Amino acid sequence: PPKVAVMTSGGDSAGMNAAVRSVVKMAIFRGCQAYVIREGWEGLVRGNEEEQGEQSAAGVEQVKHGSNAAAAAAVAAAAEASSSTGFVPTYGEGELLKEGVSEAEELGLKGRYIVRVGWDDVRGWLDQGGTLIGTARCAAFRQQDGRLRAAHNLIKHGIDALAVCGGDGSLTGADRLRAEWPELVEKLQASQLISEAQAKRYAHLKIVGLVGSIDNDLAGTDLTIGAPTALSRICEAVDSISSTAASHSRAFVIEVMGRHCGWLALMAGLATGADYCFIPEQPPKGKWEDELCEVLQKHRQVGKRKTIVIVAEGAIDRELNDIKADDIKVVLSDRLGLDTRVTTLGHTQRGGRPVAADRILATLQGVEAVNALLEAKPSTPSYVITIRENKITRAPLMEAVAQTQLVAKRISEKDFDGALALRDPEFDE
Ligand code: F6P
Repeated sequence: PPKVAVMTSGGDSAGMNAAVRSVVKMAIFRGCQAYVIREGWEGLVRGNEEEQGEQSAAGVEQVKHGSNAAAAAAVAAAAEASSSTGFVPTYGEGELLKEGVSEAEELGLKGRYIVRVGWDDVRGWLDQGGTLIGTARCAAFRQQDGRLRAAHNLIKHGIDALAVCGGDGSLTGADRLRAEWPELVEKLQASQLISEAQAKRYAHLKIVGLVGSIDNDLAGTDLTIGAPTALSRICEAVDSISSTAASHSRAFVIEVMGRHCGWLALMAGLATGADYCFIPEQPPKGKWEDELCEVLQKHRQVGKRKTIVIVAEGAIDRELNDIKADDIKVVLSDRLGLDTRVTTLGHTQRGGRPVAADRILATLQGVEAVNALLEAKPSTPSYVITIRENKITRAPLMEAVAQTQLVAKRISEKDFDGALALRDPEFDE
């Protein structure tokens, strides 16, 4: 049966576990063997230090640990049954990963990053925050040597198809691996790390992207996995801040994440009725200090007791200078005489249980990701799974990545309207 692997990469986001669970279960349901790659691209570059029991179910390792050979045989048989019938839970494997990567060493996974998983391994993952298989931002993968090692590990383990759940950086990495794949295979064969038969069998990389990021910054999709949860976390925080702000008639400047994307800030502003938002894509036209004071003063004049300013961490002015929460505080205190506090929401936005929308999005997209992988042909492009107008769809990975990079380029060229237009999923240049 085909071997389908799934990994999470880059900054974690709520719903990543739901995505992994969905890919694993759908892969098994479709008659494949399911694998997880721990610690993102880093894990794929490292591979497995000891290749013991690679062909048998990973659960065997765990049971063997307890020196129960009969149980180990039962687990192996269950794993086999699962992969051939596609729908039989691999009881016994469930212990392997349920505690997550932090327990991995105790579970005998030290030095093993590519792990066979069964149906039960992902039981209870739907509502868990973060990513239980670990993630990393991997410097080695940015070099060709790192990608060569990653390619070698995929082929060595006979992985036929790979689903990567991550943000724009991780998917850019996926796209680069895809583009370079023929060259990598050739190099591996030339250095006799893989056989001619392997080079032939793995001539095409089947890879699919699932967009897991709180930033909602990938072009071509309406929503990324984790963005709805982060947004609701921000709204809860702003609501809490609002009541204390009103009590004291204070101003609060609240910094939210999003990297170079203003989606979280803007949507949080809409959802909480904030007085003003700073986002990278649309800096104030004039001097931001003047525009801000004018708006806030008007709001105070009509009787508002509190002032809420939301600033995206990537906010800039039209000259591309950063606009930081502390700079805004100084303006509010000095020019408007407001008693002002700054709150940086930080990683509280990223962690914790996914909201229903993320669980559903990740589950539906995981199913589509496996379907896309199993339907992939050398002639079809690699896809990223998207949602557009409430429909789960596929978009060519390369185009989504290129368009996302173009947004950053437009901003760096001070073409803000152009950048905003590119955020539109229907945009076609
Ligand atoms: O991309 C997700 C994100 O949370 C951004 O919003 C933020 O800029 C960044 O990651 C923070 O990264 P780190 O967790 O490495 O500090």
